[in-house]
Amino acid sequence: MIVACPLLAAVTAGVVSFALPPVYEAKVDLAVKPAQLLPSTDPNAPSISATTILATYALFMTEPPLLNKVIADLGLKTTSDELVKQVKVTPDATTALVLHINVQDTNRARSRDVANTLVSEFIKEVNQIQQAETQSTNARSGDTFVVLSPAVLPKNPVSPNKALNVAVAFVAGLLLALGLALLFDYLDQSIKSDAELTDRVGLISLGHVPFLVAGKGKRGELVTLDAQSHAAEAYRALRTGILFSGVERSVKQLIVTSAEMGEGKSRTAANLAVVLAQAGYKTLLMDADFRRPAQHRIFARVRNIGLSNVIIQDAAEEETITAVDAVPNLWLLTSGSIPPNPSELLGSGRMRELIGHLLANFNYVIIDTPPVNAVTDAAILAAYANGTILVVEQGRTTFPAVGRAKQLLDRVGAHTLGAVMNKVRASGSSYAYEYGYYATPQADPSAPDVEPLARVKPSRSARNA
Ligand SMILES: Nc1ncnc2c1ncn2[C@@H]1O[C@H](COP(=O)(O)OP(=O)(O)O)[C@@H](O)[C@H]1O
Ligand SMILES: [Mg+2]
Repeated sequence: MIVACPLLAAVTAGVVSFALPPVYEAKVDLAVKPAQLLPSTDPNAPSISATTILATYALFMTEPPLLNKVIADLGLKTTSDELVKQVKVTPDATTALVLHINVQDTNRARSRDVANTLVSEFIKEVNQIQQAETQSTNARSGDTFVVLSPAVLPKNPVSPNKALNVAVAFVAGLLLALGLALLFDYLDQSIKSDAELTDRVGLISLGHVPFLVAGKGKRGELVTLDAQSHAAEAYRALRTGILFSGVERSVKQLIVTSAEMGEGKSRTAANLAVVLAQAGYKTLLMDADFRRPAQHRIFARVRNIGLSNVIIQDAAEEETITAVDAVPNLWLLTSGSIPPNPSELLGSGRMRELIGHLLANFNYVIIDTPPVNAVTDAAILAAYANGTILVVEQGRTTFPAVGRAKQLLDRVGAHTLGAVMNKVRASGSSYAYEYGYYATPQADPSAPDVEPLARVKPSRSARNA
């Protein structure tokens, strides 16, 4: 906006300036020599100064009778009302003895002719009046006039001043854009940094995931499948952030949710599950988003049988929970067929039972859910899970939205570990440096690099450090 606004304004001003007809200005300087003032016989008579005399002449020069004479002399097709707009008469400020007559016209010869004719008609007219006056008693002897410089053919137009117009438009456009930018920034409620997240919503940041265009073909969204990639490193950092945030509780069941849809819950849950499995944990990824199920799409599966079937129809877990061949240690439970009452299903005793059973068999259970602010599903699950993370889309999710989501989670007593800043744009972002830092390839990416927190409890001094 800051670039486009001034450029657009400047180009428009340039085009308009070129399209406008050029205006020329002719000038005449006329010296006025006021006659000696005769002492007035009346002591109350106002004294007349040279300044007043010049002002009177200046006025006279722009009155219709004189202008009509000029129009008649030159045979112009205009009226005195029109012509007066082209004529400017100003008494010289310093000498008070000179009148500057400026005439503007789109025709350069006409501007010169009008200026010269106006002055000669003016002198003629004033002389006539003065002759008549000298007959009367209390008169001044005549003022005399000298044309200091007659009007010549003007060379360059005075307007439009293309350079000035373009410059003014550019500056005006820039100021407008800056003003708008400040206004937008003021009105912009979107979250951009960790500091904002902490200060305004009270959530700690567990990690950042850069904006990454999904790969082509099946499983394109599983950006962590290439363990050497920056993306995998970002999710590994997130994994560390999450595991250490739950030091006190040994998080095993993790609800991945967000305030609104499309912020990246499903993609984050999937990739987080992959990096947990890659670290050697037996991990289950469960799609509990019956509103917009996504894990079957991300893992290129069919969704004919899954979570809903386990809960409603007691489908065997061995049939519904399937291993992901591309990632050892990773199991997937898709949503299954969509039930009419998702919230009740997720809040049912059967669901709790299932999760309890799964927790006994897996190191981690990652649960993808619908948005908190839209439906109650995530809050229901979060109420009895020991860890919940909120995905926040940088530059899009707003403070009020995340604040509301956190409030809803707090209300059910959820253990909100913090937030993941997702779709972080590297350019102009303060996190760009970190991604450069992560670029160091690992010797053996498949080796477990994080110990399960359930087993490893750092000492108090290590935690404080
Ligand atoms: N880090 C990211 N970079 C780029 N695109 C992303 C990222 N995370 C998610 N997306 C994309 O955003 C869209 C919504 O993501 P999804 O995980 O389905 O969101 P949600 O489950 O919150 O509705 C998808 O097209 C997904 O590929
Ligand atoms: Mg989703």
